[in-house]
Amino acid sequence: MYARIAGTGSYLPEKVLTNHDLEKLVDTSDKWITERTGIKKRHIAAEGETTCDMAEIAARRALEMAGRRAVDIDLIVLATTTPDKVFPSTACLLQKRLDIHGCAAFDIQAVCTGFVYALSIADRFIRTGGARCALVIGAEALSRLLDWTDRTTCVLFGDGAGAVMLEATDAPGIMSTHLHADGSYEHLLHVPAGVGQGYGRLIEGEAFMQMKGNEVFRMAVRTLGRIVDETLAANAIDKEDIDWIIPHQANHRIIEATAHKLKMSMDRVVVTIDEHGNTSAASIPLALDVAVRDGRIRRGEILIMEAFGGGFTWGSALLKY
Ligand code: COA
Repeated sequence: MYARIAGTGSYLPEKVLTNHDLEKLVDTSDKWITERTGIKKRHIAAEGETTCDMAEIAARRALEMAGRRAVDIDLIVLATTTPDKVFPSTACLLQKRLDIHGCAAFDIQAVCTGFVYALSIADRFIRTGGARCALVIGAEALSRLLDWTDRTTCVLFGDGAGAVMLEATDAPGIMSTHLHADGSYEHLLHVPAGVGQGYGRLIEGEAFMQMKGNEVFRMAVRTLGRIVDETLAANAIDKEDIDWIIPHQANHRIIEATAHKLKMSMDRVVVTIDEHGNTSAASIPLALDVAVRDGRIRRGEILIMEAFGGGFTWGSALLKY
């Protein structure tokens, strides 16, 4: 038994924030952001617009492409670092919106690697007969975790959601997934505040993301190279067999380094960072949906997804679309 992607969907908030808009907020420039990151603009959730709102639209679009109805779903796995509430999970909130009842629904939290983690979990459910039709989502309102006076982080991120419908099938599909984490790097990328300290004790500034960008950058490049090797070796396939890389969109230079390692030209890499910024768990399913809908990715092609994020966490998926 394998899992295959039967449909994709995505959503981006209406509000667009350009690099020029950011020049008015912090001491930065379109030139610096473009050269160092590749980002030109990002979408920002409207006031009151939540992760679940975005996830619902992406999910309905994926359902429609798959030709499925919400009642067909027997598993919801939603990756987010910005849940609507502490609980219930955003997956449960989404299940209610879709008016379905009884199937397992839960969130997973692996920051920018979240979608790869969610996809891997759903794949394992399907392979072992625990589900036949799984909704897998990455959705984030990351703008709410940003200190909009900190130029080292606020220029990098955006909001959005992406979803896939996974179906049980007798041929791949998802060929393998690879998940890793190393919690000893917590200090390089984190939001200090949390329930552990009591919400009543939130210290100003601690509710926002803090990142040592330079060190994260170096680790990301090294680690993504290794995970690509691990994925190819596990499947005994060559670099040349890969049709598309769908990377997590954190920095254009990190994406280029991975493509270089695979000796793939950038026109085989799906790049959305210029338009979306880093949307954390949403970035891979958003990029996938863009390239499926514009006709670049076609049935039967081999895709590799790879991601790196806070934790640190990192992971990959190899699949036949
Ligand atoms: N505008 C202008 N200048 C900025 C700036 C901004 N938005 N942000 C930082 N700078 C300045 C710094 O203060 C520093 O100035 P200094 O040399 O006078 O001290 C200079 O630019 C270089 O900063 P540095 O952090 O070394 O730049 P960099 O080339 O490493 O690029 C990142 C910074 C954040 C773009 C890059 O490190 C990165 O992408 N890191 C990984 C981020 C990531 O992937 N995070 C999420 C994991 S999924």
